[in-house]
Amino acid sequence: MSIESVSLKHHNTFALPVNAAHLVLADRIELMLKVWQQTQKRQMPLPLLVLGEGSNVLFLEDFAGTVMVNQLKGIDIREELDTWHLHVGSGENWHDLVCHTLQVGIAGLENLALIPGLVGSAPIQNIGAYGIELKNVCEYVDLLDLFTGAIDRIPVAECGFGYRESIFKHQFQTGHIIVGLGLCLSKKWRPMLEYGDLTKLDPVTVTTSQIFDSVCAMRRSKLPDPREIGNAGSFFKNPLVNAEKSASLISQYPGMPHYPQADGQVKLAAGWLIDQCELKGYRVGGAAVHRHQALVLVNADNATSQDVVALARHVRNTVASRFDVWLEPEVRFIGVMGELNAVEVLS
Ligand code: FAD
Ligand code: EPU
Repeated sequence: MSIESVSLKHHNTFALPVNAAHLVLADRIELMLKVWQQTQKRQMPLPLLVLGEGSNVLFLEDFAGTVMVNQLKGIDIREELDTWHLHVGSGENWHDLVCHTLQVGIAGLENLALIPGLVGSAPIQNIGAYGIELKNVCEYVDLLDLFTGAIDRIPVAECGFGYRESIFKHQFQTGHIIVGLGLCLSKKWRPMLEYGDLTKLDPVTVTTSQIFDSVCAMRRSKLPDPREIGNAGSFFKNPLVNAEKSASLISQYPGMPHYPQADGQVKLAAGWLIDQCELKGYRVGGAAVHRHQALVLVNADNATSQDVVALARHVRNTVASRFDVWLEPEVRFIGVMGELNAVEVLS
């Protein structure tokens, strides 16, 4: 199905009032290839943006080209002696997949409950929450090369997964579409109980549904539901600083949350830094810093893209002048012709 000049308000969880020249709902790989070829045939090729549920994007303005919404479905489950192997169409909803696996008795995705978006978007920033990242359960990513029509299977070791990072944000950012995801879940389930309220659960008796319920409760208490108030989750990434910088901040702020990493860097909590600047509830136009979680920027009242950008710039500059730490957006910034460098937009 193709719609000419259409509102994207229901295709971005910020609910910003932006439009695209064309919108295509793509439920087949052949259709994806056909749409791509049509955009390329023109004398001035039109930009193409593949979209899941729009829960990690900020449209800065109307999009001049075609937005293709991924609707590739299907879940195949294969059982081996010690493991379950899942092959999932990239257009399946992530949280529905988590629920489905738990319903059929497959453990391992419970900590990743309630993350908005599609399965195919999960590898792009290596989604993570409550002690687990996608890379811990991913086996491979199937990637469609729009130039050749070939589908390459990228094994997990070659996906370049890191904190909110993967190769899909870099060399495969254009001209490629994630069409499938392979997951490998061990039957020897080990609960991951290191984060927040999960530490209160008994590791001996705990069940997957207790973890699922606890994760959902923690998320609901902090994070606004995009169906009620527009947002894209954490707007910024948690910053990584070197040990020296971290030690200097801890001596000034002994209560500062900090998470030493295997490579010697230290991850700081961007939400804490913003909160310390007393920015919770701070508004620019219709955009605001969320009152329960300072890392989330919300569309409080008919915000425009410009409101969100001006608010993000203010938050970033305020944190930098107080802590000398520059936050980088996690959210992907989309301009009239495609993705822009978010740090450059805010600088
Ligand atoms: P979209 O926003 O539609 O797309 C994101 C980017 O990927 C875009 O650049 C798009 O062009 C590209 N893209 C999408 N699909 C494809 C494809 N098939 N092939 C190639 N490129 C593609 N994230 C976390 O990691 N952990 C959390 O705990 C978390 N909590 C959140 C809570 C809330 C309330 C919200 C709103 C967001 C949260 N997020 C979290 C961010 C978001 O859920 C994830 O980034 C999610 O994976 C985005 O999925 P999506 O389908 O909405 O992607
Ligand atoms: N904090 C404050 N004030 C705030 C927010 C946080 O002091 O307003 C403090 C908390 O008390 C805690 C620390 O900062 O000590 C970290 O906060 P929280 O546990 O809420 O997690 P986060 O670092 O803000 C990250 C992810 C979330 C993920 C949660 C749970 C990033 C950028 N964000 O948030 O992912 O759900 O951990 O694992 O890594 C997303 O990516 O969109 C997202 C929501």
